Amino acid sequence: MSFKVSKRIKDILERDRRVLINTTREPYPFVADHGDGDFAYDVDGNKFIDFTSFISVYNIGVNANKQVRNAIKKQADKLSHASFTDFHGELPVAFAERLLTMFPKGFGRVFFSNSGTEANEAALKMSRIFNKGRMYNLAFFNAFHGRSMGSLSLTAAKTVQRQNFGPFSNAIHVPFAYCYRCPLKLEYPSCGIACADYIKEQPLSHEVAPQEVAAIFMEPVQGEGGYIVPPKEFVQKVRKMAAENGILFVADEVQSGYMRTGKFLALDNFGVDADIYTMAKAIGGGVPIGATVTRTSLGDLPAGAHSNTFGGNFLAIAAASASLDYVIKNRRMLEQAAKEKGAMIMKRLNQMKERYEIIGDVRGIGLMIGVELVKSKRTKAYGVEEREQVMLKCFNSGLLLLGCGPSSIRLIPPITMSKENIEKALDIFERAVREVNGKR
Ligand SMILES: Cc1ncc(COP(=O)(O)O)c(C=O)c1O
Repeated sequence: MSFKVSKRIKDILERDRRVLINTTREPYPFVADHGDGDFAYDVDGNKFIDFTSFISVYNIGVNANKQVRNAIKKQADKLSHASFTDFHGELPVAFAERLLTMFPKGFGRVFFSNSGTEANEAALKMSRIFNKGRMYNLAFFNAFHGRSMGSLSLTAAKTVQRQNFGPFSNAIHVPFAYCYRCPLKLEYPSCGIACADYIKEQPLSHEVAPQEVAAIFMEPVQGEGGYIVPPKEFVQKVRKMAAENGILFVADEVQSGYMRTGKFLALDNFGVDADIYTMAKAIGGGVPIGATVTRTSLGDLPAGAHSNTFGGNFLAIAAASASLDYVIKNRRMLEQAAKEKGAMIMKRLNQMKERYEIIGDVRGIGLMIGVELVKSKRTKAYGVEEREQVMLKCFNSGLLLLGCGPSSIRLIPPITMSKENIEKALDIFERAVREVNGKR
């Protein structure tokens, strides 16, 4: 495919600029119309292989799951909303019961909201109640937990996200194990995971006492910050430090969860569990829903301390239930698919890394894969323009990609994508990388 900006697309883009507040648009003009499994189509009928899953939402295919679509239609005819936080309903209760079967033993409570931001906002407030008297939280550099004032206090991926909005509630940021660009300028594994020790040795020794910290928030694999996969020992050390100091460990699974890494919970790849999990994106199968899942032993909230209007919305729950049914029935297949297809993509990308100077790093688990572009392997200077050019070329050839971090690209196809289409996408990607690499 060779993409052309039609009059229709130009017109929609102009109207968009006129009436919509600016957000975080990609450097290419994709104007969505419909989706169909591995593909997304624009309003002119141009067909794109979707390597974004529309930001890790369509993990089981772009608008492809018939049960999800039918469940939405059926529920829409019956009752779409029932003020579940004020009244009661069997649908959300039954969904919570099923969802909890996907969590470790001891997890028995769910709070529903509409987004990842709200799921984290709820976790933030819950940690203050469950750990009363502790006023601080810990989070990581490169973290993304949302953009509302509470969740934004935890986010530290790009300064533009925080600029003009402070002061925030009490969050202290600490280095994440970003081994390609070690914040402590050390090398893995000889570093001995010094970044995990840093938390206890620096902020918790000089700034706030551990018993003042309510929770530590961690994305098991950092998403918006650049698809950063930490070593297993890092996550384990941080988890241990939290447990030893009565600090609640909150795993933000909004982007990494729901089979994306091959496991329902990305944290399971690291052999530890959390005290609170937050999820959103893929659990609704394309419909907005957030969930904050807690250990039963943490207790409950006082009535009225936290709530919302649309949490447990029947339409969202119907879609999420149908999606979860599919995941439960096909769990082994999805695990295997993420593993095999992930290995296939990693192999090709690692070959590209050998061939092209602008590929600095390749990292991922399952089908949560990132490629960091650089100007040169030696300087590791961020390949910002290189990324933009690669993404634009891919778009023009029929492949949708999303950026993350300063100069990384995420490769996150639906887990159900065929191997054939994955190969096609990788061919388009390699051609774009080769051309941009050759132009330097
Ligand atoms: C890890 C993580 N947490 C929270 C959020 C915020 O979720 P939402 O955009 O649904 O509010 C995101 C969004 O990208 C995310 O990746």
